[in-house]
Parts: sequence; C-alpha cells; structure tokens
Amino acid sequence: MSVIISPSVLSCDFSNIQRDVEMINNSKADWFHIDVMDGVFVPNISFGFPVIEAIKKYATKPLDVHIMIQNPDLYIADFKRCGADILTFHYEASTHVHRTIQAIKQAGMKAGIALNPHTPIALLSEVIEDLDLVLIMSVNPGFGGQKFIENSISKVKELKLLIGSKNTTCIIEIDGGVNLETGKRLVEAGANALVAGSFVFNSENPNNTIADLKKL
Ligand code: DX5
Ligand code: ZN
Repeated sequence: MSVIISPSVLSCDFSNIQRDVEMINNSKADWFHIDVMDGVFVPNISFGFPVIEAIKKYATKPLDVHIMIQNPDLYIADFKRCGADILTFHYEASTHVHRTIQAIKQAGMKAGIALNPHTPIALLSEVIEDLDLVLIMSVNPGFGGQKFIENSISKVKELKLLIGSKNTTCIIEIDGGVNLETGKRLVEAGANALVAGSFVFNSENPNNTIADLKKL
C-alpha cells in the first residue's frame, strides 16, 4: 500500500484558507493534518474550533487532528463536533492514557497517540492493541519548519517491531522535518503516513510536491 500523505495546514496561507484546502482536495494527499496548540503543552498557540470547522466545510478528505494540548479529555466531544476523523493526543499530556483512547473511540473517531522525541516507544506496550495510529514526533512539537531529528528513524523501526510482536495493526505516522530525503528513509524504515508542512507549502508547486511525496 502506498504511503499516506497528510499535509499540515499549519503552514498554509490562512488568509487564503479555502484556496489551500481546495489545493489539498485536488491533490494526491490522503488527509488534512490539523495542528492544535494551546500555549501550555507547547510554547505556541495555533488555532481552535472555529478554524477546524471552516476547514471541514470545504475538505473532502479525512481530518487528521493532532492536539498539542493539556487535558485532552476535556475537548474530545468538541473535536468530534468540529469534524475530526482521527484524533491524536500526546502521551505526555494525558494521565490516564487508556481512558483517553477509549473516550476518543467512543466518540466515533480513530484514536492516535503522539510521542515527543524523548518519549520511548516501549511506553506504548500495554496500549498498542487499542490504538489506530501512533504519531512519532521527529521535531519538538510547537512549530513548523524545524530540523528532522535523526533518532526518529530507529523509533519507527522499534514501533514496527512492537506492532508485529503483538500481532496487531496500527498506522505509523511521522511529523516534523519531512521532505523527499527524510521521507524516503522513513518509508524504508516502516512509516505508513507522512505529515509535511513547510516542505509542501513553501515549495513552488505544492500540488506537485504532494505527488512527489506520494511516490515514496
Ligand atoms: C509541529 C507540528 C507539525 C508541523 C510540521 O508541532 O505538529 O505538524 O506542522 O511542520 P514541518 O513539516 O514544516 O516540519
Ligand atoms: Zn502535527
């Protein structure tokens, strides 16, 4: 199966959001990656529910919502109402990880968990069978356009082994510093889904860049 491409709208032109959503609709992208930052869990504030609703109004592909917020449990119903299809929260931001996963599924979304660069894969061993997706952060969360952290490649391999050892299925998604060079190595290591923000939106032709990533 070909790799899933999830362009991060964090790097889009927010004064032309409908135009950029339609570019993604008409491209080879599979999902919309939506980064929500609360200014507490990460040192940046992005956007919240009204912007997600606006994207949902025009998007014809699933919304892959990555929440970089404290207390994710408090807002699960709101993200569902705004149109999230996949909801990915941070391991580091939830005290009761198993409960958060179940609550996301009960709300009718796919459940994902994100790991910061310092968080070991092994911490997922007791919940991997409950997860639809694991998001490996290959930069420290908070900003687009940062440098890829090399250690992420070995985390992908380790996660693939963990998934195999439990005889389960789970999408391996990578977020941060993805381009054609890092993307190729990530796919070789076992990644199923790639998030790309600045590499897509800062390129001359975002539509072609998405198509190039899709070929990896
Ligand atoms: C960072 C976000 C990313 C970001 C990736 O905290 O989670 O999704 O948009 O941006 P690039 O692809 O530019 O590293
Ligand atoms: Zn993200």
